[in-house]
Amino acid sequence: MNPIKHVAIIMDGNGRWGINKKKSRNYGHQQGLKTVEKIIIESLKKNIRYLTLFAFSTENWKRPKSEIKFLFSLLEKFLIKKIKAFHKNKIKLFIIGKKNFSKKLNNLLNESERLTSKNNKLQINLALNYGSKSEIVSTFDIIKKKGLKISEKTISKNLYTGNIPDPDILIRTGNTNRLSNFLLWQLAYSEIFFEKKLWPDFNKKDYNRIINNYKKIKRNFGDIQ
Ligand code: IPE
Ligand code: IPE
Ligand code: MG
Repeated sequence: MNPIKHVAIIMDGNGRWGINKKKSRNYGHQQGLKTVEKIIIESLKKNIRYLTLFAFSTENWKRPKSEIKFLFSLLEKFLIKKIKAFHKNKIKLFIIGKKNFSKKLNNLLNESERLTSKNNKLQINLALNYGSKSEIVSTFDIIKKKGLKISEKTISKNLYTGNIPDPDILIRTGNTNRLSNFLLWQLAYSEIFFEKKLWPDFNKKDYNRIINNYKKIKRNFGDIQ
């Protein structure tokens, strides 16, 4: 049976969900946050070591200002409300992506990372202003500055995810079969699950079904059966 250390999720479909409910895209984001909580709780229960959540991409800046503003205020409120409970549950929060937000949000993110930095039950990598291509370019810059040789090892080690094993599972909700510039290097051998459900409808039963299906997969890594 395959052990699961790392699950990565592209949480997609909030906007459509809100519109389908005859409400707003932002209402969908609000509901999507409830799914985030459920999946964090389930990940703790399942002893998942790393959970990487795609919350905002480098491409998402193209969206209307009002939606972007709403998303970041939602994140701010969520962190203020939950960070103590995260800490109590030995959750470590780690941001992947360039932290170039408002001073207030940057401080809050840094403070949340600092507070939880020693925790070792579940590490949540929150991808914010994250783009895989930009990450890889920055990594090459770092390697050059350090005077290292370019190799698979030095690239892996100098990504945001440097000390984290690659995801075993990638889940994308929202009935869309693409990676949208997420973890292009790290997903080289991950098992990918594209889900039809929109993120606010995704639940612990869906999550457990995926985990159970994953456990049955024979991972070859290029070898034969
Ligand atoms: C959430 O889903 C992902 C974010 C960028 C916050 P979307 O907002 O992309 O929802 P859809 O895909 O438009 O329905
Ligand atoms: C990917 O979803 C980014 C996040 C979930 C944060 P998008 O909705 O931005 O992806 P595209 O634009 O449909 O590829
Ligand atoms: Mg989308």
